[in-house]
Amino acid sequence: MPDAHPLAEPPSLDPPDWEHARALLHAAADRCIEQLRDIRAHPWRPVDARLLDAIRLDAAARGHGLDDAVERMVGATLPFHSGNVHPGFFGWVQGTGNVAALVAELIAATMNSNCGGRDHGAVYVEREVIRWCAGCFGLPDTTGGVFVSGTSQATVLALAAARQQALGDESRRGGLSGSVPLALYAADGSHSAIGKALELVGIGSRMLRTVPVDAGTGGMDLAALAALVADDRAAGVRPFCVVGTAGSAGVGAFDPLDELATFCTREGLWFHVDGAYGAWARIADPPWRSLVNGIERADSIALDFHKWMFVQYDCGLLLMRDEARQRATFAARPSYLESQQAGLGGGEPWFCDYGTDLSRGFRALKVWATLHAYGVQHLAALVTGNCRLAAYMARRVSAAPELRLAAPVRSSVCCFGVAVDDDEDASRQNAAIAVTLQMQGGCVLSTTRWGGRTVLRAAITNQRTRAHDIDACIDAVRELAARRPIDFAEATPWRPAPTAKLP
Ligand SMILES: Cc1ncc(COP(=O)(O)O)c(C=O)c1O
Repeated sequence: MPDAHPLAEPPSLDPPDWEHARALLHAAADRCIEQLRDIRAHPWRPVDARLLDAIRLDAAARGHGLDDAVERMVGATLPFHSGNVHPGFFGWVQGTGNVAALVAELIAATMNSNCGGRDHGAVYVEREVIRWCAGCFGLPDTTGGVFVSGTSQATVLALAAARQQALGDESRRGGLSGSVPLALYAADGSHSAIGKALELVGIGSRMLRTVPVDAGTGGMDLAALAALVADDRAAGVRPFCVVGTAGSAGVGAFDPLDELATFCTREGLWFHVDGAYGAWARIADPPWRSLVNGIERADSIALDFHKWMFVQYDCGLLLMRDEARQRATFAARPSYLESQQAGLGGGEPWFCDYGTDLSRGFRALKVWATLHAYGVQHLAALVTGNCRLAAYMARRVSAAPELRLAAPVRSSVCCFGVAVDDDEDASRQNAAIAVTLQMQGGCVLSTTRWGGRTVLRAAITNQRTRAHDIDACIDAVRELAARRPIDFAEATPWRPAPTAKLP
């Protein structure tokens, strides 16, 4: 027997009894599967003392053990999800997740890969998913890409590359010093992520030119865009980028991407597409697919899998037509990151050269699992089905005397509200309906401002929704709209609506 080592070693974090850990994990997996299986009985609910008491960390100096941690997570945390796993969830723009990606999350956590670089399985999976996505969006073989948290982060990276393209590679070190002011153009109603990204890349959100939209299509008005660009040039401002939105966060509007691509080519501007959810119309049936005609001509596309590809949060992607431009914008390899000819330290190219993150998780696996398990045809049918459900919701709204459609439904977003002429009164009622529905524990709608009033907004990016969920939602809204004044939710105790128990 060798002598015991003289160091006093704390035990590792591994379980002393692996069989016990296995049983705990299996039991937790059972509870997760059961929650998803019975999800209709588990709509969003307000956080209560059960969770707050269970998560207190005041006594965390000494560990409470794996059993206790698992019980608090499964027993007290799991029920308080954010609602988007429920089939009646249509708020904001959020996806549902899926079981293949859930298993992928477990496997990715087991591998605990750092996908910033080096030579290991996860980076090959990420490259393969990016290759598939580039093909799906009609981008050339020169396309680069990187998984990020979401479209907001992808937009920052895209605008950094666009800025560098405009100012030259020296601007990486010199920043904006000495350059003329740069301007970016995006349609009225485009996402706030664009202004934030402009702030972060040093250009400033004041240089975001808001382009009016065409009243008929809701997409960017090309004549107005041309006029704004010409005005800026005349004033000594340098236009550098146009952002086309595929599916706006307000009413789900689509800009005319093909025409924008032509304009950008003519004017020498970077063409970025914010396709956070709407890019996936690319795989839908006609007529929805044509909403994104021209996306294949973009210099960069920001999109999410956690919205309309039903993959668990967080999961966004930046695609860039010119991989060399992406590398020129971000590559930085100090000596401690030099790559090797072979071995674990090989495996060029490294993803840390395609964005800002060096330490990166294995997001691509849950996308790979989703694509491989269900196939593009099934996912496409769900995307198309969501568009059909939104059109069905619009028909139900139009047929209800208490309700009024706020904007034409173009893809899977339906905005509507009470049929009341006074904007203030209508806004108050629509806002109260949204909160009351949430507090009832049935369907979830959010609100947006449109046509001078607050309206209800359903964004259907939900693989679980069926027509009867739309019926239940519209019936519930009609019931509230008929009730004057509407009960304010503050006075409404949370109770799962009867619709939550549907099979
Ligand atoms: C059109 C649009 N752009 C950008 C974003 C921001 O995306 P993310 O939340 O993934 O950062 C969203 C989010 O809803 C969006 O709808």
